[in-house]
Amino acid sequence: MNYYRLIIGVFVFSFLISCNPKNEQNPRERTRFTTDWKFTRSNSESFFSPDFDDSDWRVLNLPHDWSVEGEFSEEHPASPGGGALPGGIGWYRKTFQLPESDKNKLVFIDFDGIYQKGEVWINGHRLGMRPYGYSSVRYELTQHLNFGDEENVLAVKVDNSEQPNSRWYSGSGIYRNVWLVKTGEIFVDHWGTYVTTPNVSEESATVSVETTLANRLPDISNVTLKTEIYSPDNKLVTETELAQPVGAGEKMVYQQNMKVENPDLWSIENPALYKAVSEVYDEEGNLTDTYKTTFGIRTFRFDPEKGFFLNGEHVKLLGVCNHHDLGCLGAAVNTRAIERQLEILKEMGCNSIRTAHNPPAPELLELCDKMGFVVQDETFDMWRKKKTEYDYSRYFPEWHERDLTDHILRDRNHASVMMWSIGNEVLEQWEHVEADTLNIQKANHLLNFEKNVDESIINSGEMSVNSLLTTKLANIVKELDPTRPVTAGCNEVNPWNNLFQSDALDIYGFNYHHENFAGFPENYPGKAFLVSESTSGLMSRGFYQMPSDSMFIWPDSYPPTGKPYGNEEQQCSSYDNCHVPWGSTHEESWKIVKKYDHIAGTYIWTGFDYLGEPTPYWWPSRSSYFGIIDLAGFPKDIYYMYQSEWTDKDVLHVFPHWNWEPGQTVDIWAYSSAPEVELFLNGESLGSKTKGPEDLHLMWRVPFEPGTLEAVSREDGKVVMEKEITTAGEPEQLKGTPDRKTISADGYDLSYITVEVLDKEGNFVPTAENLVQFSIEGNAEIFGVDNGNPVGHQPLKGKEIDAFNGKCLVVVKADNEPGNVTLTAASEGLDSTSVKIKMN
Ligand code: GAL
Repeated sequence: MNYYRLIIGVFVFSFLISCNPKNEQNPRERTRFTTDWKFTRSNSESFFSPDFDDSDWRVLNLPHDWSVEGEFSEEHPASPGGGALPGGIGWYRKTFQLPESDKNKLVFIDFDGIYQKGEVWINGHRLGMRPYGYSSVRYELTQHLNFGDEENVLAVKVDNSEQPNSRWYSGSGIYRNVWLVKTGEIFVDHWGTYVTTPNVSEESATVSVETTLANRLPDISNVTLKTEIYSPDNKLVTETELAQPVGAGEKMVYQQNMKVENPDLWSIENPALYKAVSEVYDEEGNLTDTYKTTFGIRTFRFDPEKGFFLNGEHVKLLGVCNHHDLGCLGAAVNTRAIERQLEILKEMGCNSIRTAHNPPAPELLELCDKMGFVVQDETFDMWRKKKTEYDYSRYFPEWHERDLTDHILRDRNHASVMMWSIGNEVLEQWEHVEADTLNIQKANHLLNFEKNVDESIINSGEMSVNSLLTTKLANIVKELDPTRPVTAGCNEVNPWNNLFQSDALDIYGFNYHHENFAGFPENYPGKAFLVSESTSGLMSRGFYQMPSDSMFIWPDSYPPTGKPYGNEEQQCSSYDNCHVPWGSTHEESWKIVKKYDHIAGTYIWTGFDYLGEPTPYWWPSRSSYFGIIDLAGFPKDIYYMYQSEWTDKDVLHVFPHWNWEPGQTVDIWAYSSAPEVELFLNGESLGSKTKGPEDLHLMWRVPFEPGTLEAVSREDGKVVMEKEITTAGEPEQLKGTPDRKTISADGYDLSYITVEVLDKEGNFVPTAENLVQFSIEGNAEIFGVDNGNPVGHQPLKGKEIDAFNGKCLVVVKADNEPGNVTLTAASEGLDSTSVKIKMN
């Protein structure tokens, strides 16, 4: 009897489950499509063919950047400005099978970025080519696929042979993630949701969700869209449903509004993220798609007089410009590598990032959403007028609408993104082509004006073509996202700048010209303002040129007169006494930004060093000196000036090192959060100094004598911090310190191990240059090595590197097998060090 009851119970339960669409499996699958690709650096038109035999090609996992695997050379067409690494052509192929059950699904491939001119074929059918290497691209595979035992071959040609084409290092290859996406035949379109929060208060928020659904069935279908909103702690807070007919082969926009009570507001300190879950049902009530959109509830505004406000509170945007490469990983995207950069910046007090000068990897924005950074999301470094020989200007006329549109569609749900930058220092700022000197066809041809700009403006001849182009680009953005302001980084700060003349920018962004920051409100009444780029200080970690109060400005004027500058080592001084003539010292620019409320914020060039632009030098230098943090991720001294100003942490940083010639006059600087610092040399006080209201550092000038330098910071007579630096002896041993001792055995996660050269007593040797060799045991690989030296030529993907000013870095990447890994760093004549890392 009980047995029959059980059978009936199971039957009823199964029936109920089958009636409840919520229990159906989500027809959407989005899988990372990055393992077991084949790769070659050779080139033949037959490589796209499914029949081609690629068995002798290299097998690798994506994301992949072949440039960073190459050797540094002045001869590479990218030149030192592009990182002095190879470009060229590369091909990728991936063979895969799909189950018969996928036959009624739609299948897409999403490339987050291919640098550059990624051309894609599936089973011999050409799907397209995208010139802009920073754009994300989707291709549909559905019509060309095989199922069951039959194989599919995806082939990608990457052509980065014409260089220079990017400022700065671009990398080459499928350098961002790839996703295989399968959906049902009624589905949320690509980047098909747009979540905004038109009304927000502490009590409640209106969440507006605009969803584009596509119907690929042969018939019109009455489609129901159910949208659920989940709170940051993953509780369902509200939901709504809307049914509408969607024509066969058509798309339909669904507009839904919901209310969230007592919203958890997204902020820099509390980056609370909500989730909108879209469920799509066909006429029979079958679930055909589920799609998730992460968003934040917050308000922000830029006030011309008072700057930036987030949720009604004034916040100064303390930002850095970052180029996209990741040190020794090159351009190959890795989530942990980006997260580490953001962690280091957050510790410094940075709260904002400008994605200079291109659409970033989606992972950067996801991390900024989660970690609480405000993002200025930038699309272009040039428009029609070229900056380098083979750059995007060649593709701009045909592709700018598509690239800009896709960028906004891709990124407009990110809580962190709070402004769009349509360009950096575009040369169109100056060129003045009067529209009335052109006939309308010519203007249309030049600017590709099919939409967005009112032709009557062109006919009136009131604006230059470049102002109209600014208006056009701003309008494209506004049409897709009216909730965020549009800005641009301008280094022409006078009113005749065509971008300002257009009146299309919501925020005026100045690059440099710090002498003009204070007077901005008078010159541009009623306009919001930020410093889109500042400073361009030049520094090599651990290198000092004295006296510290003499300025090293390169070149001596701009344009250069050819006056020689610098030193044989091709390094730059870390006393904040070296910068480009269009820039300033860090202190100079920060003091002005700090002083005036009308300056919404600043973006220092740059947070991290990057490959390329080795200003003020050229070959043999190959990476930048601009970073607050070097290419290996080691902070330079100036990091602590910002930390003392931008955070509430107790900070005391004393530099330089204490290994000089006896009798040499040395300038000792301290960055301190506490106002008073006393310095002792071998127990003798060198005096106590107190910061005045304008001071950002304290300085002592003393003759060197070996021993120990001790600094004590005080506030109201109480000791806040103490620091010691001791003269180091000869290198004797290595010390390895991992940033994380346990990482995920997921094939992507990283541990960054800093290796320092120490003397017998364990003092850091600041001048050490010993060659350090790495070996590894266990399920992990050595993924990169670096030391932050802009003049170094050892391969960044090698297994050895010299210490630079006492330290170097090795990056370990996890395999898929859990277990323990031992990384050993050895150097001839020194005691080696081993670091254990657990792969979970
Ligand atoms: C700016 C430019 C940046 C970088 C910087 C170096 O003018 O926007 O890309 O070149 O100068 O100082």
